[in-house]
Amino acid sequence: MKLTLKVWRQKSANDKGRLETYQLDNVSEHMSFLEMMDVLNEQLIAEGQEPVAFDHDCREGICGMCSMYINGEPHGPDRGVTTCQLHMRKFNDGDTIYVEPFRAKGFPIIKDLVVDRSAFDRIQHAGGFISVNTSGNTQDANAIPVPKDDADKAFDAATCIGCGACVAACKNASAMLFVSAKVSQFALLPQGKVEAKQRVLNMVEQMDKEGFGNCTNTGACEVECPKGISLENIARMNREYLKASLSAE
Ligand code: SF4
Ligand code: FES
Repeated sequence: MKLTLKVWRQKSANDKGRLETYQLDNVSEHMSFLEMMDVLNEQLIAEGQEPVAFDHDCREGICGMCSMYINGEPHGPDRGVTTCQLHMRKFNDGDTIYVEPFRAKGFPIIKDLVVDRSAFDRIQHAGGFISVNTSGNTQDANAIPVPKDDADKAFDAATCIGCGACVAACKNASAMLFVSAKVSQFALLPQGKVEAKQRVLNMVEQMDKEGFGNCTNTGACEVECPKGISLENIARMNREYLKASLSAE
């Protein structure tokens, strides 16, 4: 495949940034999108130019690092996949592909396609955990029955990999899908009930502090989420939040 790439280049957080055009002449349709970016970088290094900075780690859809906004969609045109799982066969020979970073106030650009998603870590630190008694008297997990439906929904919510595509897809740069997945995975289980009230209040407060926008039910987050996290989680988080706010007074 021959491709024209329009890639966002930005030297640092303070640089204005611009799209640069690159030609690639020998891309295999079997390559992943990140492998194609590796080919671009090898070409740039051979020409004495600076390679494009981009985040990646597992390259198998687990870590959530590969944040790229491809042709106007986080993780590109395929559904249910991350950028590292996107294959070049989804594009055509001769295509022009735009590659940009995830854009949101809460995700400041560090360099080129790399954004700072530590806001998600701070939201997690605010309440995305359960406290467990490790005194030696810990209860056997199987001693607490959990209805199958609740266990399945909690598991589905827990598959969120924190990639941030939901934020990048949202016109309000809302982080509600991510935060609601993290709230839901505990809200549905008995183990999460103990700290439920403080968890939702603290996580939502931190989400607002980080500069993420509000949810206006557009649903773009659910469409672009590589893990199929459902909007149902946002409804559940809103109920949890209301319940916690009313009982806090
Ligand atoms: S909800 Fe989906 S899109 Fe958002 S961070 Fe989690 S996995 Fe990524
Ligand atoms: S590199 Fe880990 S999910 Fe893509």
